[in-house]
Amino acid sequence: MKVVAIAGSPRPTGNTSYLTDRALEEIAAAGIETEKIVLCQHRINPCFGHDDCGSLKACRQKDDAPAIIEKFREADGLILATPVYYFNMTAQMKAFVDRNYFLYTHDIPLKAICAGMIVIGGGEGMDHTVRALRRFLLLSGEKPEDRLLTLTGCATEAGEVKNDAALVEQARQMGRRLAGMLRQVK
Ligand SMILES: Cc1cc2nc3c(=O)[nH]c(=O)nc-3n(C[C@H](O)[C@H](O)[C@H](O)COP(=O)(O)O)c2cc1C
Repeated sequence: MKVVAIAGSPRPTGNTSYLTDRALEEIAAAGIETEKIVLCQHRINPCFGHDDCGSLKACRQKDDAPAIIEKFREADGLILATPVYYFNMTAQMKAFVDRNYFLYTHDIPLKAICAGMIVIGGGEGMDHTVRALRRFLLLSGEKPEDRLLTLTGCATEAGEVKNDAALVEQARQMGRRLAGMLRQVK
């Protein structure tokens, strides 16, 4: 069993990344393998939008996305973490989400049975961002709504979230709940 976390902030030691690590710690403590993929440390180009995407054998973009998408598709559980940038996910996360269109046009669903979304902003736009991520997850594979967990909170400067004990505990709780769902179903 494996949980793959996709970290979408351009700040590898920022707030969303910190909370992702706390959730993953709990999952690892439950004996489940984890991997965190920090998108800004990879080359993920935007989708070309080919009309014939569905008939292509492989995406025509030559970058790191296909290997990451393969791990994402194979994972039993997922975490998507992004800061709010202008009421939505970051450009890094959006490019990653869009590149999953290759799976969509080839009718290849994600295998994950549960997912967590971690969305942190300075104060506005969290709901809109969660809605966009949720729609992506639901379009990418059938999952009962109660297996999609959400964590939203407020922080601005990198690392600020460390001082918010309640939010840190919620991240840990998300990790424990995801681990519990995986243990129950798998
Ligand atoms: C380009 C940019 C756009 C932002 N837009 C929003 C926004 O619309 N709403 C909001 O609440 N915070 C916004 N923020 C603040 C970030 O969401 C906030 O700093 C967050 O904690 C960053 O997460 P990170 O530390 O994981 O990178 C924006 C920050 C940047 C750099």
